[in-house]
Amino acid sequence: MTDRPTSPTPRVAVIGGSGFYEFLENPTTVTVETPYGAPSAPIAVGEVAGRPVAFLPRHGKGHQHPPTQIPYRANLWALKSLGVEQVLAPCAVGGLQPETQPGTLVVPDQLVDRTTRRVQTYVETGACHAPFADPYCPDLRGALVAAAGEGTLTEGAMVVIEGPRFSTRAESQSYAREGWTIVNMTGHPEAVLARELGLCYATIALVTDMDAGVSAEESVDQAQVFALFERHIGRLKEMLGQVVAELPPVGSCGCADWLADVDLPFELPGPDART
Ligand code: ADE
Repeated sequence: MTDRPTSPTPRVAVIGGSGFYEFLENPTTVTVETPYGAPSAPIAVGEVAGRPVAFLPRHGKGHQHPPTQIPYRANLWALKSLGVEQVLAPCAVGGLQPETQPGTLVVPDQLVDRTTRRVQTYVETGACHAPFADPYCPDLRGALVAAAGEGTLTEGAMVVIEGPRFSTRAESQSYAREGWTIVNMTGHPEAVLARELGLCYATIALVTDMDAGVSAEESVDQAQVFALFERHIGRLKEMLGQVVAELPPVGSCGCADWLADVDLPFELPGPDART
């Protein structure tokens, strides 16, 4: 059962990561249930720069869901069922390269899945394979890059590990040798589930630490991640507010096009599913 918002349909959603639990003006809360259970938290629907926007804290309001336990399928399904079309997904990441110093913003263009225990699809029967060569919406990435300002890395590969532990030094060094840019625990399967639902999705990553590989003295702990995120959350929210205010509607990005060519073994949720 979905208790629908009385406000206009939110076409844009923000999924907040660690330390990012609120975003909207005049929020009301919407309870959404899905075939995959409840999302991480009730979804807030409110305004950003006069636009209706949905907000969902990925880890729950009290950060009760560790990365493996986040109800990723319910989260994306719930947003789609409210009419959301574009999802912006800020997150905290570790830096793997000398240029990814703490405080740097990165708009990754690639993702590497090193998770081991997550259901990463809605497809439970039949032949239905989402194209995922380019995991992020080019239009949303463009909007994030345009707003993020000087010093932002405008491409890079994000490796997603299972967690909840951080990487060993050898793991971190091997990710860096592969040429990957940043490491995190929540970027997968969010991006592929969005693709399966035909949602536009892109992430903006805030580097909170240098992980354990770039220099022998460096390592990371949770306090460091939260403290750095806290220091930059205002800047991140301001930048996302600007993106939302200027975000054009879904255009020719093609994120949902693949759905027209397959037999989708489930019915898309939402007031105006696009197939
Ligand atoms: N999130 C923030 N910093 C991280 C790191 N070093 N590894 C994995 N996830 C992270």
